[in-house]
Amino acid sequence: MMKYLTAGESHGELLTGILDGFPAGVPVPELFVQEQLRRRRTALGRSTRQQTENDDVKITGGVYEGRTTGAPLSVLIKNSSRKKPEPSGIIRPCHADYGGMVKYGLEDASLVRERASARETVVRTALFAFPLYMCGISGIRISSEIISLGGKSLRPCDNRPAEKAEKIIADAKAKGDTAGGEFVLKISGVPAGLGSYSQGFRRLFTEYAEELGAIPAVKGISCGGVDIADIPGSVMNSAPECTGGIDGGISNGRDIIIRCVVKPVPGTAVTARTSDYITGAAAEICSTTSDITAVYAAAVTAEGAAAFVTLNAILEKFGGDSLDEISSRLSVWRQRHGNVISVSGEENRLK
Ligand SMILES: Cc1cc2nc3c(=O)[nH]c(=O)nc-3n(C[C@H](O)[C@H](O)[C@H](O)COP(=O)(O)O)c2cc1C
Repeated sequence: MMKYLTAGESHGELLTGILDGFPAGVPVPELFVQEQLRRRRTALGRSTRQQTENDDVKITGGVYEGRTTGAPLSVLIKNSSRKKPEPSGIIRPCHADYGGMVKYGLEDASLVRERASARETVVRTALFAFPLYMCGISGIRISSEIISLGGKSLRPCDNRPAEKAEKIIADAKAKGDTAGGEFVLKISGVPAGLGSYSQGFRRLFTEYAEELGAIPAVKGISCGGVDIADIPGSVMNSAPECTGGIDGGISNGRDIIIRCVVKPVPGTAVTARTSDYITGAAAEICSTTSDITAVYAAAVTAEGAAAFVTLNAILEKFGGDSLDEISSRLSVWRQRHGNVISVSGEENRLK
């Protein structure tokens, strides 16, 4: 089973992370890691900070001659935007500032901000690129799609969703505001039988929810692409794919569909009323350097998070420490049980 830890501050020298338990023998996907970081950095709605960062990643452990060794993988990403944080007692609303100062007994919100910042997700994105790559070479495809932004639908059936998204972002920016939204993750090719109903914490959906809910600004997670609360049970039973590929805590071989709700970025150029933690005096705050939306960037990190959970569930079910070992066990399982996948609305059993 894999575990990971990250360290580093938003404007410190560098961010670093360790992924323990990743199998041996996987080709090191250096270009793929960089591509995931590029997608996160250049995602729609990001701030100008992203133009100063290049997210050059150095893989410093767990690899030898182009393959993983089974030792902990470690990555380093230097910050280009480095500065000593300005001490401040002003609480930014809807951020970790207040809770962080209370919890750690700090009188300077910048110390909270430096670690609570979503800049940390750059390391997760780099680490998660390894399981994402391994899922890919194991026949598991993971993709994300933004389905709403700023309260407006962006489903593919909507007229020109990409242009609509650009306009929503431009309008929000012009008003000094920010936008939330929703994305859907699709995980295809997952064998049936991952996860368990034996304990609540072993349910596969619990595992996805934990990892996806750990992404800053993600505030809601549901299984299935449809508004399941709105349909009668009879309709659900006749379209079982709408429960999103997990029933009773176990994958059923269909596409796993998970929908995530992302809140609007709290740092806006519209002045917000708040207070000073130290003096208790009323204060005002605004930000002109924040992202306009985190939805697109969060979705990139979420693809990796979904791969981390999926690969961990595979490791739990089949065991194995190397790519060869895991691939052969997976292949025996697939030959025996197949994957039920949905093609143009019809179910095909792959043998
Ligand atoms: C990729 C990404 C970028 C973000 N950028 C900003 C930002 O520029 N300004 C901001 O105020 N919040 C930003 N956020 C949201 C905050 O990190 C988040 O709302 C805050 O840390 C409070 O945590 P919570 O929303 O998970 O409760 C971003 C989130 C993500 C995932």
